[in-house]
Amino acid sequence: MALHHFLLNGQTVSLEAPEDMPLLWVLRDVFGVTGPKYGCGVGVCGACTSHLNGHAFRPCIQPVGGVHGQRVTTIEGLGGGEALHPVQQAWIDEDAAQCGFCQPGQIMAAVALLQSHPQPTDADIDAAMSDNVCRCGTYVRIRSAIKRAALLLRASPRP
Ligand code: FES
Ligand code: FES
Repeated sequence: MALHHFLLNGQTVSLEAPEDMPLLWVLRDVFGVTGPKYGCGVGVCGACTSHLNGHAFRPCIQPVGGVHGQRVTTIEGLGGGEALHPVQQAWIDEDAAQCGFCQPGQIMAAVALLQSHPQPTDADIDAAMSDNVCRCGTYVRIRSAIKRAALLLRASPRP
């Protein structure tokens, strides 16, 4: 066991846990942060996608020992208080979700895409999102939502 500290959605958290405990377990079972979903547990479905220091990553294959002192953001920390992030708003506007299970991971992947590609082409979207699986097949609406989000973000850039 070791003591770990990191920043979770803007707040410093600490826990004692084995170095190799997957961060997804820590988020969901220790801190009750359940936006990141458990889909495959081996880094291939994208359901747990969150951000580490602003970059998309998969907490199911990230040992907690590797995030000491770093900034972890889940979908719970994406908006500001009651306010939705423009990508979340675009998801609602385009009615992107079906069952919803994969959608937190999809949104976090989309936010990362839009940070690096503010005006993504279809090819950019396919390349960035192809590893986020949706069993309900919402891919067409997700693509529309990303394009809408790009417009919203250009209209009111984030600080
Ligand atoms: S649960 Fe993390 S990638 Fe599938
Ligand atoms: S909305 Fe059901 S798995 Fe994607």
